[in-house]
Amino acid sequence: IFAGRFETERTYIMIKPDGVQRGYVGEIIARFERKGNVLKGLKTFQCPKAVAEEHYQDLSEKPFFGDLVEYICSGPVVCMVWEGPGVVKSARKMIGATNPLESEPGTIRGDLGAFYALVGRNVIHGSDSNESAEREIALWFGGDDELVDWTPTITPWT
Ligand code: TYD
Repeated sequence: IFAGRFETERTYIMIKPDGVQRGYVGEIIARFERKGNVLKGLKTFQCPKAVAEEHYQDLSEKPFFGDLVEYICSGPVVCMVWEGPGVVKSARKMIGATNPLESEPGTIRGDLGAFYALVGRNVIHGSDSNESAEREIALWFGGDDELVDWTPTITPWT
């Protein structure tokens, strides 16, 4: 569908334990679909501590690191790979600011993040660069056999 028209890229999106437990899986997937992104990988996953620690390795010196790892492992997460033109940046825009109290209305965190939630309990993760995206996809998905390489059928209005 994008062939020859757009550079596509992939990003790693993860619904965190609070987002899963508060019932936002469908709502979040719907937003990414409406934007026209293509779902290449999807699974529920109970994260082992080592994976959470590796995912957030850049934050290992932060005072909140231990709490962050514990939170990510506190219940199932939903791991996704979405593909689309500029999807790394557009997903970050759709997700909104880190602190749900500061994220704009219309963003996922702005609309779904509870005001009483701690700064870290912010429903969703999205890769911050193409390099992070490829690193995170490799970390959370066990190789290409967990992903599907497919292209949506071209529709008359494209
Ligand atoms: P970061 O990569 O800065 O934010 P984002 O998820 O928006 O890319 O931080 C990663 C996660 O660490 C963030 O989603 C929540 C958690 N965190 C805290 O728990 N406390 C903090 O003060 C910060 C900055 C982040």
